[in-house]
Amino acid sequence: MSLAPATRPDAGFWWARDDLDFRDGRLHLAGHDVGALAETVEGPLHLYSAARISANLRRVRDALAGTGLRSRLYYAMKANRYEPLLRHLAKGGQCGIDVCSPAELDRALACGFAAADISFTGTGVSNRDLERLLAHPDLTINCDGVGMIRRIGERAPGRAIGVRVNPERGASYGGAEKLSYAGDVATKFGIYREQWPQALAMARAHGLTITSLHFHVGCGYLTRELDDWDAAVGAGLAFLDDLPDVTTVNVGGGLGLPHREGDAPLDLGRWAALLAQRFAGRGVTVAVEPGDYIVKDAGVLVLGVTDVEQKRDVTFVSVDGGFNLAPEPAYYELPCEPVACAPRSFETAAWKPVTIAGNINEALDIWAHAQPMPELREGDRIALLNAGGYGSSMSSNHCMRGEFTEMLLPA
Ligand SMILES: Cc1ncc(COP(=O)(O)O)c(C=O)c1O
Repeated sequence: MSLAPATRPDAGFWWARDDLDFRDGRLHLAGHDVGALAETVEGPLHLYSAARISANLRRVRDALAGTGLRSRLYYAMKANRYEPLLRHLAKGGQCGIDVCSPAELDRALACGFAAADISFTGTGVSNRDLERLLAHPDLTINCDGVGMIRRIGERAPGRAIGVRVNPERGASYGGAEKLSYAGDVATKFGIYREQWPQALAMARAHGLTITSLHFHVGCGYLTRELDDWDAAVGAGLAFLDDLPDVTTVNVGGGLGLPHREGDAPLDLGRWAALLAQRFAGRGVTVAVEPGDYIVKDAGVLVLGVTDVEQKRDVTFVSVDGGFNLAPEPAYYELPCEPVACAPRSFETAAWKPVTIAGNINEALDIWAHAQPMPELREGDRIALLNAGGYGSSMSSNHCMRGEFTEMLLPA
């Protein structure tokens, strides 16, 4: 048997890019050998590239700058709240941060973001939450319902607030309803048109000035969904007519990235051109708050193979981490592409379909079905791509298997 490292096929893999590919037969992220890093820790490893995060951020900033509009970029912390990653973003000074709970607010402040650079948009906000939010006069607070406007008015009359509206139009990866926050079906998010007179009257009654209009209509949209997204932005902007004091319109996050072979990446040029058209002549700052787009493809979850076993007509490859460490594939059918860290062969035509199964006692704990993979053995490592967003931040301790290590590769 040859000990020479296998070489990759000329055609390459659909997910490969300059900073994520095989080098000398081993998967590298940002110049680091992924499998070798995983060997330095016990158990599952969430690995992130600071350079890729910065590049993703820069791409969105450049697209916004190209519109000629005044713009603000907030990173949505719910996608990944690993402190070194947040400090990296705060230090870079290229974005503010979107938070959705008082605990996220505290973490943003602790990691170096100033209150004036933080935007809060949450749901189910309690009075206890409000006490903590209102302690920061410079914080932007977007109200998700009429009741929240009233309760802020009672506690901080005269304050500036934002309102989150529901434009009844959504945009999401493949049009998935679970990833849509607005549409035909009533959702819990934002103030509906029927409630609008009541919302405006409530703000007036408490002397609240509405300085920010917000809507977030769904997650994971790509170029194929841009017409939906544009229509949603148009519907959201219709609320602006009644808001003379608004200086910023926040169109939320939701910018998606390819999850499957054949997914065309989001055309940021077209995205920005649509924004430019919609905002032309309105005299407001456009704000966006992407989470996934900034961190998801900058992270991989590295798991170890515990067993390879044939059961009936299926080859099961068991790994030492389950869906609780990166729940999006199970919850939203947004797959994490499995990649062997050191394939024994790059003859992809000879790879065999396997089912990659996690270590959680739930039938849905399957990372991939019928996935062509090179031969795998106990002790090998597999990287699950696109695990940098909503992986560690959504993880749970289900079955008491919630432990993992996180590592940020420096830029
Ligand atoms: C209000 C709001 N803003 C921003 C985001 C970030 O979305 P994404 O990570 O898809 O960009 C979310 C996600 O749910 C959200 O609810």
